[in-house]
Amino acid sequence: MNFRRLRLNANLRDLVRETSVSVDDLIMPIFIKEGLSGKNEVSSMPGIYQFGEDSYLEEIGQLIELGIKAIILFGIPKLKDSCGSDALDEHGLIARSVRAIKEKFGDRILVITDLCFCEYTDHGHCGIINPKLKTVDNDATLQISAQQALIHAQAGADMIAPSGMMDNIISTLREALDTNGFSHIPIMSYSTKFASSFYGPFRDAAESSPSQHEYLPQNRKSYQMDYANRYEAIRESIQDMKEGADILMVKPALSFMDIIREIKDATQMPLCVYNVSGEYSMVKAAANNGWVDYESMMVEILTSFKRAGADMIITYHAKDFATLSHSNS
Ligand code: PBG
Repeated sequence: MNFRRLRLNANLRDLVRETSVSVDDLIMPIFIKEGLSGKNEVSSMPGIYQFGEDSYLEEIGQLIELGIKAIILFGIPKLKDSCGSDALDEHGLIARSVRAIKEKFGDRILVITDLCFCEYTDHGHCGIINPKLKTVDNDATLQISAQQALIHAQAGADMIAPSGMMDNIISTLREALDTNGFSHIPIMSYSTKFASSFYGPFRDAAESSPSQHEYLPQNRKSYQMDYANRYEAIRESIQDMKEGADILMVKPALSFMDIIREIKDATQMPLCVYNVSGEYSMVKAAANNGWVDYESMMVEILTSFKRAGADMIITYHAKDFATLSHSNS
């Protein structure tokens, strides 16, 4: 057998390539911080910024120029309290931001809103705490999540992405959206989300680390999944599909390629992977030390997600990838 005949030159390799990544597949996360003026680089994520309310529109304009078609928003409000009030306020940070983005850019950019409470609570957990159970109260959090989804939809969000790992969140949000005139808004579920050490830098960016709490440990293991569990990972995504999720997700991505493939094959649903903060920071750190080549490593990683079964990728590399594609075209 002569495999190498088809590897002999670039044109041949391009011809037989099975998978590729394009900017069409990428979703760029954006952090908006209330009270900040200008932008502030996240020290654990070189090249990634928190944007003030005076600077995020300019950034999004640049992303659009580079060909990026979708963003996912995270808000860092001034007000944090036990039930995440800013997220339930129609004039709150994310509601204001979505309105402003849609007003300025309309359909030139798809606006996805992350729906969770960890950025809005003073304890940094993903919902309302139940002292008796010593965890996040599932059903109380479902109620406020439905309110949050309506706030996002009314502000003009194109898609809602619940990330808090509450049971029955998809059916709850679907019903809330459908009965309030938003049956056209898709839900992208963080359907298989593991409790992961790879989220560390994100929690710097979103200022959403769980704090020392009298009832809860400083981790999310009582609501996010155990990364050792393969079958449960598949069941979680199948459940969300049955509840009406339009897009499923695996998060993190790099250590979970087996899960990505299995969920894609088991559900045949549109599948997103979240190439999370720690995965980004590892590559940036190595590249900034001159140990690896940033661009080729980024393309290899993003391509591998597509090969594993992902249709789309939330990634902090999105702007760099778009810049690279732009300069190559
Ligand atoms: C909110 C949320 C998290 C991420 C996205 N949405 C963090 C968490 O669960 O603590 C992590 C993203 C990343 O690490 O890039 N629940």
